[in-house]
Amino acid sequence: MRELKLNSGHYIPILGLGTWQIKGQAAYDATLWAIEAGYRHIDTARLYANETEVGQAIKDSGIDRGQIFVTTKLWPTDFGKPRQAFEASLERLGLDYVDLYLIHWPRFNAETGVWRQLETLNKEGLAKSIGVSNYGRRNLSKLLETAEISPAVNQIELHPFAYNAGLVDFCHEQGIVIEAYSPLGHGSLLSEPILVKMAAKYGKSVAQLLIRWNLQHGWVSLPKSKSGLRIAENMDVFDFEITVDDMHKLDTLT
Ligand code: A2P
Repeated sequence: MRELKLNSGHYIPILGLGTWQIKGQAAYDATLWAIEAGYRHIDTARLYANETEVGQAIKDSGIDRGQIFVTTKLWPTDFGKPRQAFEASLERLGLDYVDLYLIHWPRFNAETGVWRQLETLNKEGLAKSIGVSNYGRRNLSKLLETAEISPAVNQIELHPFAYNAGLVDFCHEQGIVIEAYSPLGHGSLLSEPILVKMAAKYGKSVAQLLIRWNLQHGWVSLPKSKSGLRIAENMDVFDFEITVDDMHKLDTLT
């Protein structure tokens, strides 16, 4: 599995399974199928209410814990007690550390103290890397003013119809890796005629084209699916290359 180096020195697999809105048995199955298909990166959050099932599937997969990159996130209602929330996530996951812990959503003026606590979890080795999600430039700049440790990633919604190039460039300048969630536009882009036509040219599905667009940009892609077949399909993106022209077309669809 291809990886990117984070500013923490750790490596992140460039393709991961997103698990938002996948709960209970479906979350367990999806996680297990993903690992069987070769994914080594699972993205969850306390908000998703599936940490227990995701953690159990990781354990049952039989793959060494150190081989699987696990992300979870702190929801703003827990900003008053980040450590407690983190420990509760660890317990549900059945893990003794996570690879990446994110502030799930910014809340104006609340971040400095919260980020300090994530920095402490990082220094203690409990969260190997720390980062943010859904941060715009303003929130990121504010956090960077007082941060001792720079966020390793910013996880944002990112597909050709939701592409904030200014924010992406800013993150790259700061050494912050971009993670794309909802790379398929929640599935709504899959029948877009221009994408259907372009994907057919490569003998690939639109989902594969969109995931590949993320990867060629150097972003982590986090497609989500409850189907074993589609989970495997979304992984089959390493045998083709989108041309420079088509990359440009995808970049400018918005
Ligand atoms: P399903 O779970 O039934 O596979 P996003 O990651 O952009 O949020 O998109 C997720 C949506 O896209 C889900 O509804 C998922 O449905 C669907 N989906 C994921 N992968 C594929 C695929 N390869 N082909 C078609 N639909 C997909």
